[in-house]
Parts: sequence; structure tokens; C-alpha cells
Amino acid sequence: MKKIIIQSQLGSYPIHIGYKTVLKHVSSVLTSLRLGPHFVIITSPTLSHLYGYKLRRHFSSSVKVDQILISDQEKDKNMDTVQKIISRLIKLKAHRKTCLVAFGGGVIGDITGFVASIYMRGVPFIAFPTTLLSQVDSSIGGKCGVNTQEGKNLVGSFYPPRAVFSECSFLKTLPQKHYRSGLAEVIKYAVIDNQKLWTILHAHPSQILKRIPSVLEKVITSCVLTKKKFIEEDEKDFSKRQILNFGHTIGHALEAHAAYRGITHGEAIAQGMYTATDLSLQRKLCRPKTAGGIRSLLKKYGFQKQPLPPNISSTIARDKKRENKAISWILIEELGKPQRVSIPQEVF
Ligand code: GLY
Repeated sequence: MKKIIIQSQLGSYPIHIGYKTVLKHVSSVLTSLRLGPHFVIITSPTLSHLYGYKLRRHFSSSVKVDQILISDQEKDKNMDTVQKIISRLIKLKAHRKTCLVAFGGGVIGDITGFVASIYMRGVPFIAFPTTLLSQVDSSIGGKCGVNTQEGKNLVGSFYPPRAVFSECSFLKTLPQKHYRSGLAEVIKYAVIDNQKLWTILHAHPSQILKRIPSVLEKVITSCVLTKKKFIEEDEKDFSKRQILNFGHTIGHALEAHAAYRGITHGEAIAQGMYTATDLSLQRKLCRPKTAGGIRSLLKKYGFQKQPLPPNISSTIARDKKRENKAISWILIEELGKPQRVSIPQEVF
């Protein structure tokens, strides 16, 4: 098992990564962090059915563990769900020392972290990310929040977990569509920063697509180390961290445009990476060879370029990455050399 510490101004925390090696450490980590004695697991009915018993076994018998079931769909990542969880927490008599447990993918993690940040002005939370996307991205860095009708993640906080337990064997039951969604974020890290990951992704697509444990653990650890670099330098997302939004300018707009239905986050940001790559080439920022390499990696993992909806620019304009009348894009000069570029809204 690997342990990576994320340094945060709001409280540093460990990320534990491993294959069938992580859960056995839960009880001792929680004791050392002085968390408990009341935990509330927030998860989906499916995950509770598949792993609820297995997870609860790893909490000490001396603590009380409750559970709240919610939808794990992006369309339900909203204030209504937040309100429902808060009402249930009050009924469960959750207090300021109650520790929330996010057990699920990005949606569950984002909502749980957000509720933890506001319930009784802040209670601790820990995360068990169960999707590739949440293990490589959303469980790290303290961003949490919900969508509004106007756009994605428009309400939220920076609120780090007290610990993250990334058990890679949870990925065995993840539907392929959602596994590939996480792979889009993995490709993003390879393009913006991680040459070693780029080489692994090009060399071992079949092992990665088949979720071979040793490769999985290596890929997830590599992504976490890349993300760590960006968030430790710019935790509150004013400069360097924005590089992690490569592909997200279009990606978030596509998700909002589809009302968060029928398109995964990864599928959306893969399209966003195609558009950002095209823009980088049009503006002569990158060479055709660099653009070709990015497109070929996306194709290797099953992401084909699709036409963008005709009115997508008005959805982009509502995105929070907008600065006045310009849209902030992450473009690519070459692999490992991204650039933040502000482009007037009317150009796109
Ligand atoms: N997912 C981008 C970030 O955490 O900043």
C-alpha cells in the first residue's frame, strides 16, 4: 500500500492507495486521527448492497456507524440532495464530532464533502472513492460542491477530507463506461505533466483497459502525485491549479448542455481535450505532431471526436472559468507544457 500526504493550508491528509490492502488499515488510521465515535456513511443503494457489509467490518466495534443512501447521479448533485442529507443527519442526532464517510464516486464525494463543510459549521469527513475518476481526481484537493441549473459546481467549498482510502479492487465492479470516464482524467494528467504516465498509457492500453491490479495501482499513484504538485502550489485554484482544467472548458459546458444526463464527465472532457488541442494547433501554439499524439491517445482509449452542439458557446459563457468577456482555456504548447490562455468569448 502507498501512502501519499497532501499538504493543505486547511489541514494535511493522507491518501492510502492499494489493491486489497487498504481497508485493513481503516480502523487504526481513524483511531490515530481521533475520529469518531459516530460515523455516517453516505453512499448509493448499489454500493451499499455490493460493499456495505465489507466496509462496515473495518470500523471498530466500539463506534456507531449509520448510513444515508442517496442517488449517485450527476443530475442529483444539487441543493435538494444536500437538504435531504442534512435533515437525515439531524434525525440521526449527528453532532460536531460526527465524521461523515463519503463512500462512492465523484458525485457522492462532492456532496458529502460539501455537507461536511456546512453541517454545524463543519464536521470531519473521510473518503472511500470507488471510481477511477474519484480515485485520481475528485477525492484529492478539497474541492466539493453541487451543481445548479445554471452550471456545474457553481456552489461549493474548499474542504479537505481527514483521510482518503483508495482501494483499487472497488474498481472491479465499475461499469466500463464509468471506468473509461476516469481514463479521460488519466490522459489529461499525462498530457499536461506526466511523461512517465504518457509512456505507460501508450504502451499498455489492453492491461489498463482490463484493469490489471499492478498497472492500476501504478497509474492511480502516478496521477495522485501529479495532482499533488498542482494543488499544493495553488490550493485555492487561482493560478497553477487551473491547468488541471485542461479539457474542462468545453467539458463542463457539454455536461450542463446535456443537463448532466447521458454523458459522463470523462466523455465530456475528452471532447474538451480534442477542442483544446484543435485550438492549440490553430493558434500555432503546438506542432501538428503534438496534437496528433494527443488525438491518437484519446482514440486508443475509445474516445472519438464528436461534433459540438451549435449553441455550446452560450453555455461556456456561463461557466465559472469566464473572466469578464473572455473565456479561460488551457491549451498545449507541447506535452508537459500547458498554457493558460484567455480568449474573447466571441472568438469561439
Ligand atoms: N479537478 C480539478 C481540480 O481539482 O482542481
